[in-house]
Amino acid sequence: MRLFSQLKWYFLSEWRRYLGAVIFLVMIAILQLIPPHLVGIIVDGIHKKTMSSNQLLMWIGIMLIIALVIYGLRYVWRVWLFGASYRLAVKLRSDFYQRLSGQNPEFYLRHRTGDLIARATNDVDRVVFAAGEGVLTFVDSLVMGCAVLIVMGIESWQLTLLSLLPMPVMALVIKRYGQQLHDRFRIAQGAFSALNNHAQESLTSIRMIKAFGLEERQSSQFEEVATDAGRKNMRVARVDARFDPTIFIAIAIANVLAVGGGSWMVVNNSLTLGELTSFVMYLGLMIWPMLALAWMFNIVERGSAAYTRIQSLLQEPLVINDGSRSLSAGHGTLAANINTFIYPENNVPVLQSVCFQLLPGQLLGVCGPTGSGKSTLLALLQRQFDVTDGEIHFQSQAISELKMEEWRSRLAIVNQTPFLFSDTVAGNIALGRPDATQEQIEEVARLANVHDDILRLPQGYQTEVGERGVMLSGGQKQRISIARALLLDAEILILDDALSAVDGQTEHRIMRNLSQWRQKRTVIISAHRLSALVEADNVLVMQNGTISQRGKHKQLIAQSGWYSEMYHYQQLEAALEGQYDE
Ligand SMILES: Nc1ncnc2c1ncn2[C@@H]1O[C@H](COP(=O)(O)OP(=O)(O)O)[C@@H](O)[C@H]1O
Ligand SMILES: [Mg+2]
Repeated sequence: MRLFSQLKWYFLSEWRRYLGAVIFLVMIAILQLIPPHLVGIIVDGIHKKTMSSNQLLMWIGIMLIIALVIYGLRYVWRVWLFGASYRLAVKLRSDFYQRLSGQNPEFYLRHRTGDLIARATNDVDRVVFAAGEGVLTFVDSLVMGCAVLIVMGIESWQLTLLSLLPMPVMALVIKRYGQQLHDRFRIAQGAFSALNNHAQESLTSIRMIKAFGLEERQSSQFEEVATDAGRKNMRVARVDARFDPTIFIAIAIANVLAVGGGSWMVVNNSLTLGELTSFVMYLGLMIWPMLALAWMFNIVERGSAAYTRIQSLLQEPLVINDGSRSLSAGHGTLAANINTFIYPENNVPVLQSVCFQLLPGQLLGVCGPTGSGKSTLLALLQRQFDVTDGEIHFQSQAISELKMEEWRSRLAIVNQTPFLFSDTVAGNIALGRPDATQEQIEEVARLANVHDDILRLPQGYQTEVGERGVMLSGGQKQRISIARALLLDAEILILDDALSAVDGQTEHRIMRNLSQWRQKRTVIISAHRLSALVEADNVLVMQNGTISQRGKHKQLIAQSGWYSEMYHYQQLEAALEGQYDE
């Protein structure tokens, strides 16, 4: 029953609809109490031979009308209430989505997509069902149950007490089932998440699975996960199945007590036969509220378990908090003073003493062995994480105090692993600027040296790519991502190993294009091929998370160290490749 306090905010905001529905339910309950009373009158009338056939027809007519009115009222409250609970679904889902889009990459390492989808769909449905159907059933059964009890008490309080004897025992048993259901259902939803994860991961990596011939292994793993989910749901079904029989037993005992005790009272003339008939019919009316109460217990416990699963994600703190300061228009100097950076939930520093200044319009190169911290540094500049000790300033303001949206709008980023959406090539390039013209799109595609490639695709710029479209090579995807970033025309362009899949010549052409396009813009580029950094105003050589060398290309090749060694090695490699090409 935790759900009622969990969803208090929602019930308070929708109190009008709920109040309206409750009023309707009370009306329905009162109307439902009339027919058994009428039947009692009819039975006594026939028994004592005091009723005419016209009177009989009238009573039956009244009962019919009552049934029709009840039908109408039931329809109205349902429509009312479910209208409210669908709004709850929209609200929960949009809260969930917003929270997810505010989370940083770390969050997505800890939570898998399938699980997140399961919570946004399955769990939200459960909560909505409980808040609509569940709550109303609760009110319905309570109102109806109390009304019937009162009328039964008026008919004969002794008989009422007698027939209610089995109820407290039943209530205790049902409560116990409710708790079991809550726990087992939570476990079952967890298993569903795992199932979802497995399906989602297998489907997205289906090419690799086939390439490695892993179909059978994946299938058997899937079967295992599916069986596990099935078993856990079966455990829920077992508790579920205990509710109804328990209630039927209780009602049956109550009936035996009522008929037994009632007959004795009729014989002793303290009750008429008609009154006993009404009483037993009223007792029959108790079946629905009791079944409903148990059923409500059932769905509310499920809803509450589901809500806990949703909340546990919503309550995970955002690792990155938005700032409040604004930037002034125009360019700025970027100054990094990173004393240490440690990834959340990790304890070894990944960056140490990384300090540099970058004036507007400068080109900064970042190089170093794999794992030396290049991507980490670039992620910090984008504020995907906050620096553990130290700060990064832009226009002399700490970026952690800036409004995130404003800071990000100054950046255009290309990552090492490009992502294309299921859209046309043109649509993918214009992602950040949907209003861009075809000329503008082609211009950036030329700068990124991908224009000719695009023209060779079946429908040129209108070719569908991404999950459902044509397959592009890694290099083509990288260049389309670069075109996308160039189109943003942002003040700072960050390329994180964004040319790793293109050949040396193409890289050279793109770098040449970039140096013409740059003008006043600041560019930060991390590259594996050092020839890409020849024109940089400053190059940082990263080793083990710290800057081991810095300077211009010419200075660095004159020093002994990682840079000159790597450069000579790459020169040699290029020369050898050239030889083989000839
Ligand atoms: N999200 C992360 N959580 C924890 N450690 C990370 C994460 N990303 C990278 N690292 C670690 O940080 C170090 C630097 O990685 P990275 O910045 O990607 O290097 P580079 O881009 O130079 O290859 C590596 O040791 C890597 O294992
Ligand atoms: Mg990297």
